[in-house]
Amino acid sequence: MHLVVGATGPVGLGGEICRQLRAAGRPVRALARQTANADRVAELARIGVELVHGDLKKPHSLREACRGIETVISTASMMVSSQKGDTVENVDGTGQTDLVDAAEAAGVRSFVYLSFSQHIDRDFPFRNAKRAVEHRLKQSRLAYTILRPTFLMEVWLSPIAGFDFGHAHARIYGRGRNPISWISMYDVARFAVLSLDTPLARNATFELGGPEAMSPLDVVRIFEEAGGPRFQLEFASEDMLAEQQENAPDSLQRSLAGLGLCYAAGDVIDMTAILRSFPMVLTSVREYARRVLMDPM
Ligand SMILES: NC(=O)c1ccc[n+]([C@@H]2O[C@H](COP(=O)([O-])OP(=O)(O)OC[C@H]3O[C@@H](n4cnc5c(N)ncnc54)[C@H](OP(=O)(O)O)[C@@H]3O)[C@@H](O)[C@H]2O)c1
Repeated sequence: MHLVVGATGPVGLGGEICRQLRAAGRPVRALARQTANADRVAELARIGVELVHGDLKKPHSLREACRGIETVISTASMMVSSQKGDTVENVDGTGQTDLVDAAEAAGVRSFVYLSFSQHIDRDFPFRNAKRAVEHRLKQSRLAYTILRPTFLMEVWLSPIAGFDFGHAHARIYGRGRNPISWISMYDVARFAVLSLDTPLARNATFELGGPEAMSPLDVVRIFEEAGGPRFQLEFASEDMLAEQQENAPDSLQRSLAGLGLCYAAGDVIDMTAILRSFPMVLTSVREYARRVLMDPM
């Protein structure tokens, strides 16, 4: 039995991992909060996922959830889907390290953790939490797989991050000229599932990107060529983001600014070597653009 923590969010990486595992006939349990979106919870139940109530802020619920589990896969984060009482520190920080503790105590064999790219490396709370969890996991008795994707198309090329293709309006962080290896969350989910059966993934960390690196301004051009109207652009300057990363009143705002600065700096990931061990065809930005323009989220 695999436990997925983070299966109920609006972006959907954890939910997609559940779907791919169930499609392969594998038993899956998902941790859901009392406040989780009811439709997403119902969909998980419909595909045969066993549901257990819990919250990363409540360690006893994690111990219950881990009982009888072989592998924990944690994609949870409060960055996009925070509820009252959530902070970067108590969800992405201690919440996740408590989950590692609970998995270890319950005799879980392995743990797949969704972190992010090594190039997201400025000093801000979310990045510090991710690296602290990686560190705790590596020190545990669990076999670990750390997945470090770069910027997800479904977040940074979507209205969630101000890339509102439905209204042809895009917020660009920085000047928009530095390339990023945008990756689809469907492909990240595939890596997570394949890593369960790949010996090379045992005690390994993988940087993950899409099939090609391109700048945000190139992405806008691709959306326009794919049939969208001409985009209106709004630029969040690096000076403004740096000021926000320093002085914003809470750790979420400081972290969002830190992420914006890392996006502005670009993040290129060469996937040649990893695709030899994980043979798959990665989604391109052009394919993503066609999909979302045909069927807006
Ligand atoms: N966005 C990017 O570009 C990017 C890049 C690299 C890596 N990642 C990582 O990818 C992972 C998945 O991201 P996503 O965008 O798919 O997330 P998402 O859709 O926002 O889902 C987040 C999940 O975490 C759960 N969660 C939040 N706080 C919780 C708590 N206190 N206890 C239990 N569960 C809690 C949410 O539950 P509720 O439904 O109850 O809120 C939800 O199921 C994250 O770890 C993220 O850091 C993202």
